Amino acid sequence: LADGPLKGKHILVTSGPTHEPIDPVRYIANRSSGSQGTAIAEALSALGAAVTFVTGPADAERPRGVHVIEVQTAREMLEAVGSALPADAAVFAAAVADWRVASASDKKMKKDGSGTLPTLDFAENPDILATVSQMGDGRPALVVGFAAETHDVIAHATAKRDRKGCDWIVANDVSPETGIMGGSENAVTLISDAGSEDWPRMGKVEVARKLAARIAEALA
Ligand code: C5P
Repeated sequence: LADGPLKGKHILVTSGPTHEPIDPVRYIANRSSGSQGTAIAEALSALGAAVTFVTGPADAERPRGVHVIEVQTAREMLEAVGSALPADAAVFAAAVADWRVASASDKKMKKDGSGTLPTLDFAENPDILATVSQMGDGRPALVVGFAAETHDVIAHATAKRDRKGCDWIVANDVSPETGIMGGSENAVTLISDAGSEDWPRMGKVEVARKLAARIAEALA
């Protein structure tokens, strides 16, 4: 482990999309690349933290020098997060699917030739960020969530922070015209008790370094 201000601290990071099965060969997912979460894990590790990185099936390369736990679904992610606690801080950068297919088929669904279309019933996935934010005993001292929004970013993210009970929200505008989802840059607003702070548009690696430095200050 690197020497640095986060030496002796354990930090949990979630990252990537989740895949929610429809049947053994099909799934529902989202466009998260996992690159922001990966950069955050590496930045925290570079400041000396012991990092547990719980990731869905993301395209991004796995961060080096951290403990990686691979999961597929939201429910598996919640279980992995539970097993990784306690932690001094937790950063929830994963784009967890809000819904799963209520009863995924254990056999491949087949076209029967009659033109009958399948219907999917959904069930709500657990909200991992809210669950950890609202833990009594064992809650990390600092819980950071992300809010990917396409409009009214600050208003929605501020409401999200209150609703979920996390300490900070890193809000970003993922409208298609920003090129942020899947891109290498991010423009974020950090929302905390102290209000909201706009960061200039910068690389996801720089966002990660700046966030890691703020986490180190907060845990000091
Ligand atoms: O509600 P929404 O998905 O917009 O909230 C985003 C934040 O909540 C992110 O930090 C994400 O990692 C977290 N989240 C979660 N579990 C869910 C849904 C979102 O941890 N089921």
